[in-house]
Amino acid sequence: MQEQTEFYLDQILKDCWQRLADGAQSPKHLFHFPVISTLNKDFPESRVVVLRAVNPKEHTLIFYSDVRSPKIRQIKESPNVSWVFYDAKSRIQIRIKAKAVLHFKDEISLEAWENSRLESKKVYLSQQVPSSKVDEPTDGLPQDLKMVNLTEENLKSGYENFVVVKTEVLELDWLFLAHHEHRRARFMKELEGFNMEWIQP
Ligand SMILES: Cc1cc2nc3c(=O)[nH]c(=O)nc-3n(C[C@H](O)[C@H](O)[C@H](O)COP(=O)(O)O)c2cc1C
Repeated sequence: MQEQTEFYLDQILKDCWQRLADGAQSPKHLFHFPVISTLNKDFPESRVVVLRAVNPKEHTLIFYSDVRSPKIRQIKESPNVSWVFYDAKSRIQIRIKAKAVLHFKDEISLEAWENSRLESKKVYLSQQVPSSKVDEPTDGLPQDLKMVNLTEENLKSGYENFVVVKTEVLELDWLFLAHHEHRRARFMKELEGFNMEWIQP
């Protein structure tokens, strides 16, 4: 019986990683736009990001950001972050505690930058620091680039602001809102794999 329960928990964990990987792959997947929270002194700060990559073997999830943004300053002060994903179709919520590692002007950020679409690179060209006060509504794109068809050459300087945030999963909380009975399980990272347990939903 014990063995069977553990096997079932193991299947749930596999299913979670599959869903997360699918979320990173497909913009249509409900896990593509999760919320990530960082610590900002007395208040948690939460925001939506694009889930860019998931590595189920390394237990990592990646998003991209502007190195000048408040969230990156918060991560530098404390790398502890929390993710939340909800797939309303499957009625599955996944909450993840993780440790963030920043990749700035290294091999990982360069590869991610080179594989990014032109349109995604544009946001890193803003002259104003993200979240700073501006005098009028703007996307911050330099005036001389507003009307042109952007090329790799125009966008090159955006790399100066581009950071890859890799988060390493420490704990994963799975909640399934079944129609009749809810189920919840917790997976805690250990030296080898995850400790798995059922918990009260
Ligand atoms: C659909 C959607 C996707 C977003 N994707 C990202 C993203 O991948 N990276 C990012 O830094 N901000 C992204 N944002 C903007 C953030 O939610 C947030 O507003 C911005 O980064 C400022 O956050 P901060 O002040 O906490 O640093 C996205 C917003 C939305 C609505």
